[in-house]
Amino acid sequence: MNLPPAYSPAILADACKICNIADDYPHLLSTTEKIVSDSSLAEYACDLYREFTQGVGSFANHYRPVDKLGEDADHIFLLTVLSAMPETLARYRAQGTPEDIITATLDLSNKSGKREPVKLLPRQVAYCRRYYNAAIFRLGRFHFTLSGDKRDLPAVVINRQDPSHKVLLSADQMLYDDNGFVDNQPPTWLTRASLTEKVISGNLINPNGTASKERQTFAAGQWTWQYGARTVIDMHIPAGGGMTPDLSRESLKKAFRFFAGKSAAVYCNSWIFNPQLQGLPGTDNMTALMKMGHLFPVKSSAKEGMFFLYGTETDDLSTLPVHTTLQRSALDFMRAGGQLRAGGIFFFADEIC
Ligand SMILES: CC(C)(COP(=O)(O)OP(=O)(O)OC[C@H]1O[C@@H](n2cnc3c(N)ncnc32)[C@H](O)[C@@H]1OP(=O)(O)O)[C@@H](O)C(=O)NCCC(=O)NCCS
Repeated sequence: MNLPPAYSPAILADACKICNIADDYPHLLSTTEKIVSDSSLAEYACDLYREFTQGVGSFANHYRPVDKLGEDADHIFLLTVLSAMPETLARYRAQGTPEDIITATLDLSNKSGKREPVKLLPRQVAYCRRYYNAAIFRLGRFHFTLSGDKRDLPAVVINRQDPSHKVLLSADQMLYDDNGFVDNQPPTWLTRASLTEKVISGNLINPNGTASKERQTFAAGQWTWQYGARTVIDMHIPAGGGMTPDLSRESLKKAFRFFAGKSAAVYCNSWIFNPQLQGLPGTDNMTALMKMGHLFPVKSSAKEGMFFLYGTETDDLSTLPVHTTLQRSALDFMRAGGQLRAGGIFFFADEIC
């Protein structure tokens, strides 16, 4: 059996160094020994690595070998990602990514300030394929990657005289509920957007991030429709708190510089951009970030963000752990009938830089 690279002690040591988790090496090494001594686990490790490198599977519901590895069960997923690290590093270097950006991007150590053993859950493995594809870059506080064409994002209609005047119109044929969200509620109405030589028309996105049933028309002579189906800079928010407005703006500026000429719009889809969380205790940074951009509705589940907030997903709110202000606020919000949901946001270079 051809074991994945990180099952060799020298390669594992190297990979831990690349990811700034050298302190975790002895612990991970002892897990590799347990895996190698159990033929079915060793075979599973090979399968995981093959799926990871071949780009198949989402890993989210993969078997966690708690019965055999106890608390270290999820090491098998981290070892999958670490196995690909030497190749990952080579790919970033081959495309000329600056060393400081590579180092920041591949740093898997815990950013919370508390030094805890690094963890990677099954559902986080698919995200790590972006590293393997050398397609994601940590530029300050956030991660960024260039997306393919996105067709269901709102259109941005810009005033020709005053380009700072922008209006978002929902994409065509989107289904919304009565509150103007795309949710797990039964959808009740459908949008229409169109662009002719003379007229741009569509359903407005309100500044509070909901879609309006009202259709608006703009004279094409005075307004231009930009970013139709287009490439945007996708943003991802790594864990660690401390997402201050200054750090956030700095990170966005770096992204616009890094991807200059490719796109002037950053897009993010996250539970963090749930417009209804704005102003709740513990959301100062999130609220400030929402105010820097343009919110819009996206498809969502009713538990969006629960995992990131509480480390678990459940229908029984009484079982959620509450240790921080944000956890308390979100729980009070849900108990009062509020709904966790994802939101979309655009940041534009001319407004950020
Ligand atoms: C998104 C994130 C960076 C925002 O952090 P932030 O707004 O800068 O938060 P702050 O550092 O200002 O913290 C404010 C309060 O919320 C708490 N808090 C922040 N993020 C938290 C989280 N994910 N879970 C629980 N509590 C959290 C803090 O502990 C603090 O409460 P306290 O004063 O009682 O300790 C942070 O929530 C995080 O690290 N999330 C995990 C990653 C994530 O969700 N990414 C998006 C995936 S789509």
